[in-house]
Amino acid sequence: MTQAPQEHRTLQAPTEEELTRAGLRLAVEGPVARITIDRPERRNAMTGRTWTTLAHIGQTLSDDVRIVVIAGAGDIFSAGVDLGMFTPDGVEGERSIIAGLAEGETDDADLDAYIAGLQEGFLWLRRPDLVTIAAVRGHAIGAGFQLALACDLRILADDARFCMKEPALGLVPDLTGTKPLVDIVGVHRATEICLTARTVGAEESRELGLATLVVGVEELDGAVDDAIAGLLAVDPGAATATKSLLRQAEGNTLEEQCAAERTAQVARLKALVGAMTAGS
Ligand code: ACO
Repeated sequence: MTQAPQEHRTLQAPTEEELTRAGLRLAVEGPVARITIDRPERRNAMTGRTWTTLAHIGQTLSDDVRIVVIAGAGDIFSAGVDLGMFTPDGVEGERSIIAGLAEGETDDADLDAYIAGLQEGFLWLRRPDLVTIAAVRGHAIGAGFQLALACDLRILADDARFCMKEPALGLVPDLTGTKPLVDIVGVHRATEICLTARTVGAEESRELGLATLVVGVEELDGAVDDAIAGLLAVDPGAATATKSLLRQAEGNTLEEQCAAERTAQVARLKALVGAMTAGS
């Protein structure tokens, strides 16, 4: 899940054409990568290709990148999965999720592997060497909500609206969203949100801890820039080590977490002393 970026250095970054076909835009400037979901005519609905291309972006980002911002084009984050994927014809240039099943050509293992491939588009956003920010305007439905949940921070405009629509469509949320949702709001509130498929507005998201910050629509870009400036002011090595510690805290006992803190601090101290020695 948290593979080091170096493992994939042989891969080429997605081309402009590949990004366009996936409904994405990518702009990298120094330590900041900005990804925009850009299919306004479909309310930024996403396809399988969107997520495999997101994974591809993660695998080929420069090691200089420390912050990733994901936003939707226009006034919506994302209407979730492109519902065309559940039609017999699928969406243009992509397999239909249901056609193979209906025809008996797809077995459980095929489908499991297919979904695992889609989840890769979400998993890399937890990588400790990156801080990922979802900048959310308007609806973030289903897979859109899960994409925002995959990020470390969610900065919301006051018109943001989350909805875990999957159960209303006979599905489960399967794009890595159930764990962060439960981690943030607790199992009881997560159950209520998912099993009613209701909309959670920006203010309630702030109260539940789903939103790091809620600002006016016009202030969203500035709030994201402020967050980026704050994050970049911190030592990169310490940021990576700290995110790694925080991410493992919940699964660790206190004893294990204390040991992890000691190990990480020893490495930090050695790095700091090494830098001082090199500079003297
Ligand atoms: N997949 C494919 N096309 C979509 C999707 C989608 N998820 N959402 C919107 N569109 C298309 C519409 O079909 C419409 O196309 P058309 O112009 O050819 O008729 C166009 O985008 C505009 O949609 P409207 O519904 O007219 O836009 P509006 O602003 O009124 O509503 C909203 C936006 C609330 C997002 C609404 O479109 C909606 O509810 N979409 C479906 C959301 C959904 O169920 N997503 C799946 C969740 S489950 C998951 O993600 C795994």
